[in-house]
Amino acid sequence: MKIAVLASDPDLYSNRRLIEAGEQRGHEVHFIAIKNCYMDITARKPEIHYRGGEILKRFDAVIPRIRPAVTFYGTAVLRQFEMQGSYILNGPIAITRARDKLRTMQMLCDSNDIDIPRTGFANSPLDTKDLINIVGGAPVIIKLLEGTQGRGVVLAETNKAAESVINAFKSLHANILVQEFIKESKGVDLRCFVIGDKVVASMERHAAEGEFRANIHLGGTGHKVKITPKERKMAVAAAKVVGLKVSGVDLIRSDHGPMVLEVNSAPGLEGVEGATEKDIAGLMIEHIEKQVEKRRTKKKKVAA
Ligand SMILES: Nc1ncnc2c1ncn2[C@@H]1O[C@H](COP(=O)(O)OP(=O)(O)O)[C@@H](O)[C@H]1O
Ligand SMILES: [Mg+2]
Repeated sequence: MKIAVLASDPDLYSNRRLIEAGEQRGHEVHFIAIKNCYMDITARKPEIHYRGGEILKRFDAVIPRIRPAVTFYGTAVLRQFEMQGSYILNGPIAITRARDKLRTMQMLCDSNDIDIPRTGFANSPLDTKDLINIVGGAPVIIKLLEGTQGRGVVLAETNKAAESVINAFKSLHANILVQEFIKESKGVDLRCFVIGDKVVASMERHAAEGEFRANIHLGGTGHKVKITPKERKMAVAAAKVVGLKVSGVDLIRSDHGPMVLEVNSAPGLEGVEGATEKDIAGLMIEHIEKQVEKRRTKKKKVAA
């Protein structure tokens, strides 16, 4: 197969591993830099041009690894690949959904198999006090809707602090949600790596000393963990609701059972491969092989 890894940095561990795993399984893998693509969207056949003048030939499959900073452009390029009929590992609509924490929470709420922490959202500072009460009062978590790697997640210990932080964010026109703080998790969360309808690896992440956010980028450490059938079911359901075929679902263990925090559309491979010693990149390529084959046989059947 001819596979494209559509991303920004070819030297990033995850991208290197995907290229390596694809080649090991006998495929031709190309690294396509999002910023080097430009498109003729009026052409009768959707075209993707690559800096230097080359017109990209159709790929059998595309693995999008779009950084949050380039979601808009990256998903536009991805749509173009989709229109060319390539198999897209995670579709542009699902990626856009997952990038917005509020939208994800609203979608997850609809499923009977999924619990989330109490979460609120408001537009006006006039509603701030009530919003804090809705989620149970301080301590509360305040999150930027499009934050990643823990950077947009703040813990406010008192109602007064929460009010100031929320109103400060609002005055900067930042979109935020307010959430119940699951203190019993004690800085530990679960990263479940979902491929298709299976959790293929899971790790428990422990926040660094003095930190409540368990993100690896903030010094958190990952360890292999066995999750419960309920957690497994919840992670798979969350990925399905958002529509991602490969995702990193973050769960937190509360006194009322597991809850979903977010669903990541380009989960990092380094932490999870290191903690579980599993060939996650290989499993992703294997999934693509199966799906592309399925599409081929379906097409053949239709043609017959
Ligand atoms: N409601 C919460 N209660 C307790 N800890 C939380 C809560 N929400 C987030 N966290 C902690 O902060 C981390 C980052 O939050 P998350 O929603 O996953 O955003 P990001 O996209 O920045 O990773 C989580 O992995 C978890 O450790
Ligand atoms: Mg997270």
